[in-house]
Amino acid sequence: MDSKYDTLIYNVRIASMQLNGMPYGELPPTAVAIKEGHIVALLSCDEQLNDALQQTSTVIDGSRLIPCNENEQPTLPWLLPGFIDCHTHLVYGGNRAEEFEMRLQGASYVEIAERGGGIKGTVKKTRQADEQTLLNTAIKRAIRLCEEGVTTIEVKSGYGLDIDTEIRMLSVAKSLEKHLPVTIQTTYLGAHALPNEFNHDADAYIDFICRDALPQIASLGLADAVDVFCETIGFSLQQTERVFSCAKQYGLPVKAHVEQLSDSKGAVLAAKYGALSVDHIEYLVDSDIPSLVKSETVAVLLPGAFYYLSEVQKPPVEALRAHDVPIAVATDFNPGSSPLASLLTALNMSCVLFKLTPEEALRGATEHAASALGLNDRGVVDIGNVADLTLWDIETPAELVYCINGHRPIAVFKDGKHV
Ligand code: NIG
Ligand code: FE
Repeated sequence: MDSKYDTLIYNVRIASMQLNGMPYGELPPTAVAIKEGHIVALLSCDEQLNDALQQTSTVIDGSRLIPCNENEQPTLPWLLPGFIDCHTHLVYGGNRAEEFEMRLQGASYVEIAERGGGIKGTVKKTRQADEQTLLNTAIKRAIRLCEEGVTTIEVKSGYGLDIDTEIRMLSVAKSLEKHLPVTIQTTYLGAHALPNEFNHDADAYIDFICRDALPQIASLGLADAVDVFCETIGFSLQQTERVFSCAKQYGLPVKAHVEQLSDSKGAVLAAKYGALSVDHIEYLVDSDIPSLVKSETVAVLLPGAFYYLSEVQKPPVEALRAHDVPIAVATDFNPGSSPLASLLTALNMSCVLFKLTPEEALRGATEHAASALGLNDRGVVDIGNVADLTLWDIETPAELVYCINGHRPIAVFKDGKHV
């Protein structure tokens, strides 16, 4: 007979990340019941639990997961939502270790970009790489994230710039789902850098994006969103706006790299287009924050890039907080400005460098990261959400953020399946 629940997880402490007035959204003793990949019930009393235990195919008893001495009370693991890395560029060819050496000898990120290195260097290597090579390297990078309990990853294109390579990057990103227990959200970032074949004519490249690339990528269903690098070394406000308005025509939500190196007013423009998120935002000024509130745009902090580029200008965390702007934190995993294959390290950095609280950091990799991707079915342990869950041998959720490279989940459930 078909059982009522596929899986029941009990004897755990739950950091649901719900906004229930408890730190980390902790729930009173509760069992999580899963059916067909979703959380279908949160059972709180013994009676409900006893019934449910009889009607479940697979039962996970948290009190048996952490080894303890015979006479000791078992330690219960913490259960959290699967983590969401809402900003990565993890499909690319080659690496930029040489550029790292140049930077250590004094060359700046901007200088290297202006000399045709930087993003353009990776474009060259990515165009040369075949699909299988891109996939193999992307799998290795994504595994690093998944090992820490990441179950959803956003991946941007933007190292191909021509249509074929952009399509190849996005297809490779999507196909990671076939190789790893992860949901992939793809973002078309054609407006990442100006390819050489456009001979310094950025407007002509934007024409190409709007007339050729974006329509084709949209019709193939390869992008869940569209992103632009709005910056002095990226694209101007006007060019950014053209891409946004084109994305709108194709029904694709937008997000943007803004205010990373200068105050270019990209965040205000993005908000005008109802952007899901504005990312980096070190140079965002307080007076531009109210526009994000109106558009319910998530502020995504990328402390890996801040650290790696030895940036000193910090994002306006206090003002974001004061305006209740949801804050997410991501790795920005990419070969140039943030070769960081660890979301938990990014969370630690967001606390140490930007003074987020550990709870804010964890919300930034769960609830708010989901919003930054326009996903309302994950990031919080709640009925109806996908059963992407992680179990941890920790005494408090803050430990995950406090310790660098200290923790791996003791169990991960992806779409309800123990993986
Ligand atoms: O998010 N800011 C632009 N894009 C990436 C960097 C990409 C690169 O340097 O390869 C970022 O930091
Ligand atoms: Fe980025």
